[in-house]
Amino acid sequence: MECPMTAAAPATAQKTILRALAGETLPTPPIWMMRQAGRYLPEYRATRAQAGDFLSLCYNPELAAEVTLQPIRRYGFDAAILFADILLVPQALGADLWFVTGEGPRLSTITNMAGVEALKPASAIHDTLAPVYETVKILSRELPQETTLIGFAGAPWTVATYMIAGRGTPDQAPAHAMREQAPEAFDALIARITEATIDYLSMQIEAGAEVVKIFDSWAGSLKGEAFQRYALEPARKIITEIKARHPGIPIIAFPREAGEGYIGFGPATGADCVALDNSVTPEWAAEHVQKDGCVQGNLASSHMVSGGPALVEATERVVRAFHKGPHIFNLGHGITPDADPENVALMIETVRSFRA
Ligand code: CP3
Repeated sequence: MECPMTAAAPATAQKTILRALAGETLPTPPIWMMRQAGRYLPEYRATRAQAGDFLSLCYNPELAAEVTLQPIRRYGFDAAILFADILLVPQALGADLWFVTGEGPRLSTITNMAGVEALKPASAIHDTLAPVYETVKILSRELPQETTLIGFAGAPWTVATYMIAGRGTPDQAPAHAMREQAPEAFDALIARITEATIDYLSMQIEAGAEVVKIFDSWAGSLKGEAFQRYALEPARKIITEIKARHPGIPIIAFPREAGEGYIGFGPATGADCVALDNSVTPEWAAEHVQKDGCVQGNLASSHMVSGGPALVEATERVVRAFHKGPHIFNLGHGITPDADPENVALMIETVRSFRA
């Protein structure tokens, strides 16, 4: 029997993001932007106000689909990313989660094995996360035919850093302390998040996500052996299992600030594309990372605030550096609330009019 997930239907094969992920070098790279649905857009702020707060927006399928679509309508990006948050998985596992306006997320903390054992089993996450799957279903109906729908989850290490500290931390010190001082509990936590992430991404794919991305925002604070064990290995496990369940689904991995760790990350984990932050130059990444396959990135998001000729020059530099191989244009990290929507339009115009 033919599986709709694996069949390379001609219509989807034409989507530029899927072509780049399959390894094709395109004359113009497809483009989308991390946090493209976000506070820099007045229409996002209006819908968030309508929802009440950020988490209510995440769990309201109609409004979450609406904010996902807003940047597609305004700019015609080649991909839409599901509107949700990586911290919904800890919440679904039983952690308390709330957002403090102007500060960021807060969670109940986990510091030992008793805390890990008090979490719900991975199989219990879907009650909480059902509205997210509904958002994906709405989007797969409503997105323009040429737009690719990207689902996502946080990587186990990054999610664990928030579950252990109960908030964002500049150096992830509480998580590093736990992995050194309570390695068994730490490993059990990583295993639980890994299992939940596999099930969560699978459900997004079943609901209509065409690509999934794994965000490891704090991968850069893992060094040497710890990077292999807690950034590379969980990504490899998740990707292997997703590919077994959903052959043909492309996966983007984002081990942010991995530096030298970017080299070989795609082949080692099975990711179809490695997303790059802007702490590496595009020329370096073309030589050392794009040689293995598709890359995504990596314009500094500060250009979306400052704009002007420097934005045009930096955008052209990224496109030029990657134009001989498969590339998806993106920022090196999420767009910030102080960005000017006009600068986003200028970036897109620059990418789409560039000729090598
Ligand atoms: O990219 C997108 O447009 C899709 C939706 C998305 C959000 N968060 C919405 C969001 C995605 C993919 C994320 C990922 C995410 N969330 C990460 C990994 C990527 C990264 O940025 O490093 C992390 C670490 C989080 C956790 C998180 N969520 C933090 C630390 C914060 C507070 C910081 C901030 O920017 O305010 C959030 C809030 C959040 N997630 C917002 C959005 C649009 C802003 C909340 C608001 O509207 O008030």
